[in-house]
Amino acid sequence: MNTIAVIGAGTMGNGIAHVFAQKGLKVNLVDVSQAALDQGLATITKNLDRMIAKEAITPNDKKECLHNITCHTNMTSGVSQTDLVIEAATEKLDVKLEIFKQLDKLCEAKTILATNTSSISITQIASATNRPKQVIGMHFMNPVPIMKLVEIIRGYDTSDEVTAAIMGLAKKLGKTPTEVNDYPGFVANRILMPMINEAIETLYNGVAGVEEIDTVMKLGMAHPMGPLQLADFIGLDVCLSILNVMYDGFKNPKYAPCPLLVNMVMAGKKGIKSGEGFYDYSKSRKAEKVSAQFTS
Ligand code: NAI
Repeated sequence: MNTIAVIGAGTMGNGIAHVFAQKGLKVNLVDVSQAALDQGLATITKNLDRMIAKEAITPNDKKECLHNITCHTNMTSGVSQTDLVIEAATEKLDVKLEIFKQLDKLCEAKTILATNTSSISITQIASATNRPKQVIGMHFMNPVPIMKLVEIIRGYDTSDEVTAAIMGLAKKLGKTPTEVNDYPGFVANRILMPMINEAIETLYNGVAGVEEIDTVMKLGMAHPMGPLQLADFIGLDVCLSILNVMYDGFKNPKYAPCPLLVNMVMAGKKGIKSGEGFYDYSKSRKAEKVSAQFTS
């Protein structure tokens, strides 16, 4: 593979573009928003600078990596002549169906279409195309340059050849691909999201405060980050969308999103990306201060 496109330059899209470009592939980064592209490139630059400071890469590696990335607000120019497209746009079914419908029309017949969806059915996304054998889930973890796992999800029709190609590609990136089947939330979020939702429910029920809940899970369970901080890091809107997909998909109330999470997303509190979630990020991306609404 030589050239790929990444659709969506947000939390995940810029990280995916970063790891491919650092391995020498040409990356077209596509977003409907120029501001998201600018922010995405700024994040990649900051992360590369951090790697230089740690002597993990040289300034020349940074230059080459950035040189490999081209930004596009136009989908047509962004996806033409690509071997692979990885969609990392907003976690909404209608958004993804529309993107895959367009990709199927715009991409060459050989192009593999992957989605970084956290929970939405790969089979359903593939149904928007005429190439379901070439549609696959390639679920990177956040932050992409650091996390080793890539959950590889086969849709109902995904071919063995495409699965093998994507598993091989993930290994070339230095990642550990793990193959799972196509059910709501796959494996990662089927296990993670009920824990995050329960942490929010625990806060909602007044059992403990934000910092206390996170401290119990960090120090008691050896989690590197508490579940409420992790939810802010993932994006509360993303968490809500994933829980809704699992709730609808399994018709099981155990996945029903906590009303507090629903309210926070409706109020625009999405975590780090909006500057406020369970913690306040108005001054720094570090979760140093609990949001005012949770302090007594
Ligand atoms: P985000 O909200 O940070 O970024 C989404 C980006 O998609 C935005 O920049 C938006 O402008 C863009 N976008 C929306 N519609 C578009 C379109 N039609 N064409 C091009 N760009 C479009 O979202 P995030 O967190 O990066 O999530 C992206 C995907 O990755 C979702 O499917 C999510 O479930 C998944 N994911 C998220 C993780 C996380 O920790 N946030 C972890 C793993 C997967």
